[in-house]
Order: sequence, then structure tokens, then C-alpha cells
Amino acid sequence: MIRYARPSDHPAIAAVVTAAFGRPDEAALATRLRADEDTLFEMVAEEDGEVVGHVLFSRLWVDRFELYGALAPLAVRPDRQGQGLGGKLVRAGLEGAREFGCHGVLVLGDPAYYDRFGFSAEAARDVNAPYRGLAAFQALALEEDAFQGPMMAAYPDAFG
Ligand SMILES: CC(C)(COP(=O)(O)OP(=O)(O)OC[C@H]1O[C@@H](n2cnc3c(N)ncnc32)[C@H](O)[C@@H]1OP(=O)(O)O)[C@@H](O)C(=O)NCCC(=O)NCCS
Repeated sequence: MIRYARPSDHPAIAAVVTAAFGRPDEAALATRLRADEDTLFEMVAEEDGEVVGHVLFSRLWVDRFELYGALAPLAVRPDRQGQGLGGKLVRAGLEGAREFGCHGVLVLGDPAYYDRFGFSAEAARDVNAPYRGLAAFQALALEEDAFQGPMMAAYPDAFG
């Protein structure tokens, strides 16, 4: 089951994210984003009442009067990886981002993974952000012209 996360999920989310990345940095990122109120929403994958996957979308500041989102982190507990949960979380998250009114979403991740959801480095080429030019820096437009023309995108401080 994929559902929106509740505050009572936070400890379980931290455990899943830490186990997936093998270090505490990404769980700390999620904690800081919440503390700074930069989180748009979080979703979890739940199996038998247990959180086994998580995705977080935070807000981006762009030089347009529109809402954009950043997808990070995405994590599935190691013993549940390779069973489609990551894909379900990303797809549900993108639906959520649409519902929240996001015009587009940026991600920093392996193109071999994010390509399947429609993300591309090509779409992010005009986005002026700290990660510009990296193959891992990818965009997905949820509105047709979301990434057309040069634009600035500032990440929440937690990414600093
Ligand atoms: C990335 C991650 C969330 C994917 O979750 P998952 O539930 O295993 O993903 P799915 O089952 O939906 O998809 C599995 C596919 O993704 C591929 N994949 C998984 N991790 C990948 C990665 N880092 N780079 C490229 N491909 C990857 C698998 O090879 C598999 O490919 P296939 O469908 O062609 O066989 C999970 O592996 C994870 O938590 N990894 C550690 C944390 C991490 O790297 N998060 C992403 C940061 S951007």
C-alpha cells in the first residue's frame, strides 16, 4: 500500500532511509526539510503494517510564480528492493505532485533509474541550479512548458 506519511511514521522512515543508503545523511535531510517546513509531502510504502519504502517531495524556489518540487530522498528497505516498490512510490509521488499543483519536478539520481518515469537531463538543461550540467540532474515537466527557457531554481537550505 502506498499512502501519505504521518508524523508517527517518522522513526520508521528514518530507519528505512538509513538502511537503504547505508548511512544517516539522507534521513537527516528528511528531518531537516521537515524542521524547516520545506516539505511538500511524503509517501510511504506499507506492508503488513510496516513502513518499507519512502519518498519525499520538497518545494523549490524558481523565478516563476509557480510551484516546483524536488524528489529526494527515495528509499526502499534493502530486503524489499527489486520488487517494484520504488517505481510505485515515484509514480504515486508524481501524481501527488500534480495534485499539489507542481509544474515540474527535479531529481538528482541515476539516469538509468529515473529515465523510466520520464525524467531527463535534457529537460533540465536550462535550469540554473547547483547541480546543473550533471548527468544525474534531471527534470520532468508536469505542465507542458514547465522547463522551457532559462530559469533559476533554488533548493531548500537542507540540501546545502
Ligand atoms: C533506488 C531504489 C529506491 C529503487 O527501489 P526498488 O524498489 O528496488 O525499485 P523497483 O523495484 O521499482 O525497480 C527496480 C529496478 O531499478 C533498478 N535500480 C535500482 N536501483 C538503481 C540505481 N541506483 N540505479 C539504476 N537502476 C537502479 C534495478 O536494477 C531494477 O531494474 P529493472 O527493472 O530493469 O530490473 C532502491 O534501490 C534504494 O532504496 N536504493 C538505495 C537508495 C537510493 O539509491 N535511492 C535513490 C537515490 S536517487
